[in-house]
Parts: sequence; structure tokens; C-alpha cells
Amino acid sequence: MITLSHLSKTLGNQNILSDVSFTITSGERLIILGQNGAGKTTLIRCILGEYQPSSGEVRVLGFAPFKNRVRALEHIAFVPQLPPPLRYTVKELFDYCADVTDCDRNTIRSYCDYFELDVNAHIHKPFYKLSGGMKQKVLISIAFARSSPILIFDEPTANLDVVARDRFRSLLSDNRCRDKTMIFISHRIEEVSNVVKRSIELDLGKVVKDVLL
Ligand SMILES: Nc1ncnc2c1ncn2[C@@H]1O[C@H](COP(=O)(O)OP(=O)(O)O)[C@@H](O)[C@H]1O
Ligand SMILES: [Mg+2]
Repeated sequence: MITLSHLSKTLGNQNILSDVSFTITSGERLIILGQNGAGKTTLIRCILGEYQPSSGEVRVLGFAPFKNRVRALEHIAFVPQLPPPLRYTVKELFDYCADVTDCDRNTIRSYCDYFELDVNAHIHKPFYKLSGGMKQKVLISIAFARSSPILIFDEPTANLDVVARDRFRSLLSDNRCRDKTMIFISHRIEEVSNVVKRSIELDLGKVVKDVLL
């Protein structure tokens, strides 16, 4: 489903990723671990086609994501570590998602309810003015509302309150997510331990561990 072959990425004059190779098969759930600066977010950016590999190859369902971003991204729902500073209101964001992706507004709203976000109280606010946790709830709700077969979460629960964290954990093992391939970057392995079956550890841009749990 996702294949990295000898992927290296240089930014400036620094080797951020060096000769990273692994394959993620359909339905697999894995966590990517590593210290701050290990290269986890850079790796995800290569999978999302935000970065062109300096050498080696990335394939998402056969597509090279940098060259064929639209085809690769239509299969991926992604929650970033840092929410983008969108000027859209929450309503405009939902409308945009409903227009350009396969999810509908009511499904997004039902996930927001589940995370105890009072959407109506904030619907006309610009997204960037929401609190960090609210932004994360909105982005997680959109990701779950899509029917993408691949979910990628980069530290998704960092700003969530305790209730939302518990609900996030429950949702991962819910029937609605049964067939999804999931990649988590998290320092809190216990939050995803109910679904994760493999862990890959990066250190200084190299895979130093790849184990089944
Ligand atoms: N755009 C960039 N230009 C130069 N260096 C970068 C850039 N983005 C990340 N880095 C560097 O790459 C290293 C890995 O960063 P990152 O992938 O964000 O790590 P992680 O997500 O594991 O904490 C860090 O040393 C960081 O400073
Ligand atoms: Mg990161």
C-alpha cells in the first residue's frame, strides 16, 4: 500500500532521512517512534508528496506522491502535528471538505459531537482562532469522516483533553475503521496500543528498529 525504497532526504546541507526502506501493507496499523528531530514528520511529508525524495522512492498505492500528488492524496486522510493557520471559518472549512472530498458535513459534525466540540458555538469563527485542542478535534473529525483507506496522524492527541483522548482511542478500534491502514506518530504509545501491531523507530533519520508488537 505504501512503499519506501532507500528513501533519503536532504534539507539544506543536512541529511534528514538516510536510506529508509519499509513497506506498509493494507490494513496494517503502525506507530513511528523517535526522539524530537529524528525525522518522523519529514518522513510523513515525503509520503504526502510535500517533499521530493533526494534519492530513493516513495509509492502510495503505486503512485509517486510528489509527482502525482492528487492521485496519492485522494487515498490519504492526514492530521498534521501543527494545524495550518486557515482563515476559513469552520463552516467554510466543512463546506470545502464536502465539496472537494468524499465526506459530508453531517458526518463531520457527528464526529465533532463525539469529541464534545460544540460546533454551533464556533461555526462562524475563523479556524485559526480556535484553541489548539479544538483545531485538533475539527481536523480529526474531518479525517474520520472521509472514506480514505489510509489514515495518518502526526501527534494527533497532543492538545486533546482527557475525554477526547479516550474517545479517540475508542474510535480507532471501532467497526467504522475496520479496514483502514493507520500510521501514527506519537510519543504516547499507550494511546494507540489497542490497535497498533508494529512499531518503527527512527533515530537521526535512520530506521533503527522495526518490530511486531
Ligand atoms: N524545512 C526544513 N529545513 C531544514 N531542516 C529541517 C526542515 N524541516 C525539518 N528540518 C530538520 O530535520 C530534522 C528532523 O525534523 P522532523 O522531521 O520535524 O523531526 P521529528 O518529526 O521526528 O521531530 C530536524 O533536525 C529539523 O531541524
Ligand atoms: Mg514531528
